[in-house]
Amino acid sequence: MDTPLEHRLQQELDRRRQNNLLRRLEVAPPCRVNLSSNDYLQLRSDAAVLDAAHAALEEYGAGSGASPLLYGNTPCHERLLTALKPWKRKTAGLVFNTGFMANQAVLKHVPGANDLVLVDRLIHHSVIQAVLQSPADYKRYVHLDLNHLEDLLNKHRNDYETIFVVTESVFSMDGDYPDLKALVALKKRHPFVLVLDEAHGTGVFGPTGGGLAEEMGVLDEIDILVGTLGKALASMGAYVLSSSQTVIDHLVNHSGEFIYSTYLAPACAAAAEAAIGRVQAMQAERQSLRERAATFRHALTQKGWTTHAFDSQIVPVVVGDPDRALALRDRLLAQGILTAAVRPPTVPPNSSRLRLSLHSGVTQEHLDEVLELLNP
Ligand SMILES: Cc1ncc(COP(=O)(O)O)c(C=O)c1O
Repeated sequence: MDTPLEHRLQQELDRRRQNNLLRRLEVAPPCRVNLSSNDYLQLRSDAAVLDAAHAALEEYGAGSGASPLLYGNTPCHERLLTALKPWKRKTAGLVFNTGFMANQAVLKHVPGANDLVLVDRLIHHSVIQAVLQSPADYKRYVHLDLNHLEDLLNKHRNDYETIFVVTESVFSMDGDYPDLKALVALKKRHPFVLVLDEAHGTGVFGPTGGGLAEEMGVLDEIDILVGTLGKALASMGAYVLSSSQTVIDHLVNHSGEFIYSTYLAPACAAAAEAAIGRVQAMQAERQSLRERAATFRHALTQKGWTTHAFDSQIVPVVVGDPDRALALRDRLLAQGILTAAVRPPTVPPNSSRLRLSLHSGVTQEHLDEVLELLNP
């Protein structure tokens, strides 16, 4: 095919290639240490999780067979919600096929034409795409900057019917996180609907792995809580939880992402439900993962690398230049250590990085080895 369309697309790809920003889909290479996986508690091959998935496969088959409202919804999906709701202290909820779709659903369909959505500048792409399509206005506040957020709330509080504030808990590319207690205090001064994406907090933060909101004691103040089953919960799929049944009923009626897609496989829901039980009991693993991550960041900083002074399991090594990020990734991979080189537009210009995703299977020796390889 040699058409104007092909020509334009090829030119765009060439531009990316010239700047070392071309994305390429590869099969995960074999490795000794995987620092590119979000399976933070290594539950994907846990016996209880696999048993639950096998039992669901036997009982319900490989797929759900239909979209949720046309009876693709099974007891596995319902049992998953029954486990999620008390854990996250919400009374209503809905299972989605992916976290991307869950964020799209909430932000495209809940805010209306008289509303404003305020999002952290580094919020996940699924949220940005959704607010761009929402009838509501949106503005971005400086990353983690609650003073800037308060300025925007002050400025706009009389201009809109409802204001929404959307943030991630642990940010996917930076591993830092907002002061949720301060955010909730702000909400008391300037009422807004708080939407929290706990994709990376769940499993690793909070006494029972309930996430950053659990750790900071503010679960009851989160109005709409979104999370994926694809990271610490070792499966795939997602959920939206709220204490408003009306919000959930609205999504059931208006979210095309929910209504018009074959529902999540029952085995995925069953695996995630089993993973919740395991996660809740893994306090020791959580604690040592967090301690190891904090020590590792400190060691990186001492060696002159740019990272953030947080203690989450996501450790960025920001190098700026995409070529340098790729070279470091390749150097580590040559020794069997798999990491992700993350480049613009996934991250802002000049902030290419290695994203090191620590998990409970990573030892101090592994991290010492990474440090040595980064500083040969
Ligand atoms: C913060 C955040 N939200 C949502 C998602 C999407 O979740 P899912 O992988 O289930 O689509 C991701 C990652 O993939 C994420 O990092």
